[in-house]
Amino acid sequence: MYVDLGNALDAEPRLTREALDRLDERVADAHDRIARGREHADHGYAALNLPDTVDPDAIRASVADFDDPAAVLTVGIGGSALGAATLAEALGADLAHYILDNVDPAHVRSLLDSLPLADTVVHVVSRSGTTAETLANFLVVREAMDRAGVDWTDRTLVTTGEDGNLRRLADRHDLPALDVPAGVPGRFSALSTVALPVAALGGADLDELLAGARAEADRLSGSLFDAPAYAYGAACYALERRGAGVNAVMPYAESLEFFAEWFAQLWAESLGKDAVGQTPARALGATDQHSQLQLYRAGPRDKLVTLVRPRERPDVPIPETDLDGLSYLGGGSLAALLDAEFEATEASLAAARCPNIRIEVDRIDERGVGELLYGMEAACVCYGELAGVETFTQPAVEWGKRAARGLLGGGDFPEAEAVGEKRRLL
Ligand code: PA5
Repeated sequence: MYVDLGNALDAEPRLTREALDRLDERVADAHDRIARGREHADHGYAALNLPDTVDPDAIRASVADFDDPAAVLTVGIGGSALGAATLAEALGADLAHYILDNVDPAHVRSLLDSLPLADTVVHVVSRSGTTAETLANFLVVREAMDRAGVDWTDRTLVTTGEDGNLRRLADRHDLPALDVPAGVPGRFSALSTVALPVAALGGADLDELLAGARAEADRLSGSLFDAPAYAYGAACYALERRGAGVNAVMPYAESLEFFAEWFAQLWAESLGKDAVGQTPARALGATDQHSQLQLYRAGPRDKLVTLVRPRERPDVPIPETDLDGLSYLGGGSLAALLDAEFEATEASLAAARCPNIRIEVDRIDERGVGELLYGMEAACVCYGELAGVETFTQPAVEWGKRAARGLLGGGDFPEAEAVGEKRRLL
């Protein structure tokens, strides 16, 4: 992964090279803490060891018995769904990938009506094994399969923690089940049993994906000037402290649209603590050049824009034309056009002194995606260390989960009582 901070300096909010030099001492301390956490496989830090601790053979074996599925359906939510969606979309899986994360009944019904259930592998994922949305959706999927005369026990793979309702369900029906690795929070689990089964089903090369992640891990060092992931995390932190409360992540690749969503979860749920944090915004180049870019360039000076692209991509030639005014396009290519749009956006932001950071990988393939996911996770951990927040907890998310369960009679949770106390004005 390549990170270019050039356009993040001397813009508005203003970050200087001298400030980065000073911050580098704190990055060295952060790196020491991260290295110690990794050494002891402490909660959260263990995620940065996944390139070496995950067993790709076990993951390949777990999906080997599902012969030639037409589709895979991930039933999970948050960190238990977005990693799989990111990998499936970015690596152009050989089979269609769907997610059931939300419990909007209209959506669930229409998705289940359209899926070839007999040819679909269902991957149910919940670290806690208790998340209401995931378990409810799975019960609905199971029943739909029953009604369609499909033996759901033959089509289901489970990934969950050691305990919880999902583990008990898997045991009762003797379903193949993978363990969520210890110490790996949901949003840091893309490179584990949580998301890799979907990549394996789609034919992705897991070894190469992990090799990409490992390469990024090997670049972590005590200086942000040597470690691209820390450079990004530290610059985001420093810019946020100076007023860039929003980080708009704008990949110039359709296949990275879910990556932006995955990133948004990683950033928001990990760093939004103790009244600090940087709000992630999602955009897609070049599409959002025609909408959100107006705000990024000319709106409030509270933003950083992160532009992401591959250095090489498959291309489509643009046919020659003798139409007046179009000859500059004819004979060119869509890749060249998209890259020109990327560079135009970057220059436009720079001309208006809006901080922006360029992130590139060589290609959107297993190696590039492994680098990108690992690099962003390490950046996030570095930011969390600098900000002094508990990167690996999500108390606000847990609060909502308990309140919803309590409301539905799923246990005695005091949070549920607050739901009836809503203040009304009109
Ligand atoms: O990152 C997280 O911890 C959360 O987004 C969880 O992944 C999400 O709430 C789902 O939890 P679980 O995997 O326990 O069902």
